[in-house]
Formats: sequence, C-alpha cells, structure tokens
Amino acid sequence: TKKYDYLVVGSGLFGAVFAHEATKAGKKCLVIDKRDHAGGNIFCKEMEGINVHWYGAHIFHTNDKDIWDYVNQFAEFNRYTNSPIANYKGELYNLPFNMNTFYRLWGTKTPQEAKQKIEEQIKGLNITEPKNLEEQALKLVGPDIYEKLIKHYTEKQWGRKATELPAFIIRRLPVRFTYDNNYFNDKYQGIPVGGYNKIVEGLLKDIEVQLNTDFISRREEFESIADKIVFTGKIDEYYGFRFGELEYRSLRFETEVVDTENYQGNAVVNYTDSEPAYTRIIEHKHFEFGTQPKTVITKEYPLTSEKGAEPYYPVNNDNNGAILKRYQELASAEKNVIFGGRLAEYRYYDMHQVIGSALVKAKRELS
Ligand code: FDA
Repeated sequence: TKKYDYLVVGSGLFGAVFAHEATKAGKKCLVIDKRDHAGGNIFCKEMEGINVHWYGAHIFHTNDKDIWDYVNQFAEFNRYTNSPIANYKGELYNLPFNMNTFYRLWGTKTPQEAKQKIEEQIKGLNITEPKNLEEQALKLVGPDIYEKLIKHYTEKQWGRKATELPAFIIRRLPVRFTYDNNYFNDKYQGIPVGGYNKIVEGLLKDIEVQLNTDFISRREEFESIADKIVFTGKIDEYYGFRFGELEYRSLRFETEVVDTENYQGNAVVNYTDSEPAYTRIIEHKHFEFGTQPKTVITKEYPLTSEKGAEPYYPVNNDNNGAILKRYQELASAEKNVIFGGRLAEYRYYDMHQVIGSALVKAKRELS
C-alpha cells in the first residue's frame, strides 16, 4: 500500500475542499502547490494590516444555503455588499445599471421615466440580429449607457474593438428599476472577517501541505506515493500540451501603499473610458471596513494571452473548445486521476461554484 490515499495537486479552493472532505472521511492526503503559499487565487497578503486580495478582488456570494453554511464553519462573514462605482471622464456612476445610474445620466426620477428613456434610446437603432458585441449592447441598453459604461471598458478588457467581438460575450445586461446598488442578486454575500486565508487554513488544518512543489517536474515520484491523484492544475499541462495550449486572458496588478487613510471611498472603482489604461482600482481595506492609517490600492490592467502570465479567464472560442474536448477524452478514461477546479476543467468558476463542484466530486469519490 502507498503512503497516501490522495495526492492533491493544488491548494486552491477545489483542492483544499477535496482534501478536507477526504481527511474527514479518514483518508490520508498530501496537498502540494507550486506557489509559495496555499489558497490558490483567493490568497490574501497582509500589507499595512490590510488583507490584500493578491490575485484580484474576491467577493463571496451565493444563493445556496448549504455552501454558505459550509464556508461559515471556517470564518465569520461581514456584511460587505459589492457596489462598484464607474468613473467615465471624471463623471461618477453607480453600477450595476439602476435608478441611481439613470438619474445621473438623464435626470430621470421614476422607474417609468427611466424605462421610457431607455426605450427611446433603443428605438430607431433598428438592430434585430446583433452581429457583434457593440450591436448586442446597443440593442439592450442604447447608446448613452453603451458609450459611457460599456464600450471602452470592454475594448480595454479584450484588447479588441467591440465591433470585432462576438455578441455572445454579453448575453444580458441587467438593468434595475430600483435605487439598489448591490451588484449581486444572491441571498448571501460578504467577505470573511480576517480574510480568505482563514478559510484556507481551516480547510487544510492538520493536513500535510508542501509548498514550492511542482507536480509536473516531479510527477513519477508523486505518482508513486499515492493511490489516486486529484489534479487542479491546467489540463493541457497535465497532458504535456500534446494537443496544443488552451488560451487564457490575464491581468497585471500594480499594488501600492498610499499614505492616506481613505483613497477612493469604495472598494471597487471601474475606469470606463479608454484612458487610463487600467480597468479598475481596488482599495482593499473597504472589503473589511478597515480603519488603518494607510491604505493599499491595486490598479488592474488587462493582459491578453501573454507568455508566462497567470491564466485567469478561459477564452471560450471554437478552437479552444475543440482542443479541450480532446483532453477531456483522455481525462475521462483515467482511473486514478480526478480533475477538478477552474484550470483542470478550463472553466470560469466563482468561489461558491468551485466549492459546490468539489463537494459533489468528493462525495461521489468517498461514498
Ligand atoms: P486556483 O487557481 O485557486 O488553485 C489552483 C492551484 O493549483 C494554484 O494554487 C496553483 O498554484 C496550483 N497548481 C497549478 N498547477 C500546479 C502544478 N503543476 N503543481 C503544483 N501546483 C499547481 N469568485 C467569486 O466567487 N467572487 C469573486 O469576486 C471572484 N473574483 C475573481 C477575480 C479574478 C481576477 C479571478 C481570476 C477569479 C475570481 N473569482 C471570484 C474566482 C475564484 O478565484 C475561483 O473560483 C477559485 O479561486 C478557483 O479555485 P481553484 O481551486 O479551482 O483554482
């Protein structure tokens, strides 16, 4: 018999939840991660006493009571509500699009006035079958909102003209006829008090973890010590890129300490014009209502598939879909490897979704 029941590659939410459940069921796990910290992309780094969301802003939200209860075992959640501000040429608008946004744009005060205004904007455009993202957005919200809050932001994000982007990227654009700036519609929302690392620490408590350890370069050694492998890294890398590389969009973060108590008064401010080059500024202390004397901000720059960049968002197009399918065929034939999480499934997952998926796969495996 081998030393471990499961070798878990990756200490992100998927790996940590799986290892936690397996350990609870009496199995012996070794978790490895090539980074120098556990937690994957929800990792927070402490700076000036502030939990800095090191791989981008993370706001927990879910409609699923079981998942909410699950994370609340490990940390208490605060009442943080995501309500981003958009800055367009120095004008400030509330997001998501709601009565506050419409009032600022047009001076409309009642839902009826706002609806009428949007209808007027859309009428006369005569778009029936939108051919690209621009037409799709115009058809949904009209030219004012499109120009100030969608066009340039989206073009920055994708590094391409909105007329050259497929319409399906924007399926719907929620417009709300209430004065409600809450970005999410979910029943539960918040930030773990003390940061996301508390959740990761709770999940991995009493489990053996080896950091700075890459699976790929030592795979024979690791394959020989465990009965089964739970792989949460990139599926194309697991198979030596034999069918080609799956593409990702990435981000570059510029984080700085600012010697002021409150820099922008909100955790998230989007910059929706073509200038500046960054898409957002995150001020981390506001996620936890921090009162530290200094503040830490992060400017977020889009990065389109650059070598060596962190893989963040899968690029869902036909080519990547075809490559993925070939890897998935190999994966489904594996007897002793479980693939899970955003990189192994090449799928954008929110935190609650990745937890849900890990719980389902763990249950199936362990029962
Ligand atoms: P994750 O990437 O976290 O973990 C994989 C781990 O495997 C990493 O630690 C990696 O180092 C390790 N690894 C990979 N290959 C390896 C190898 N060969 N050997 C050893 N280790 C290896 N969700 C949400 O609910 N609300 C939000 O606000 C946000 N915001 C957000 C912003 C940005 C910019 C991104 C990119 C994502 C979000 N998310 C989010 C999504 C959230 O980050 C995501 O759901 C989870 O972090 C996914 O956890 P995984 O375990 O799947 O991957």
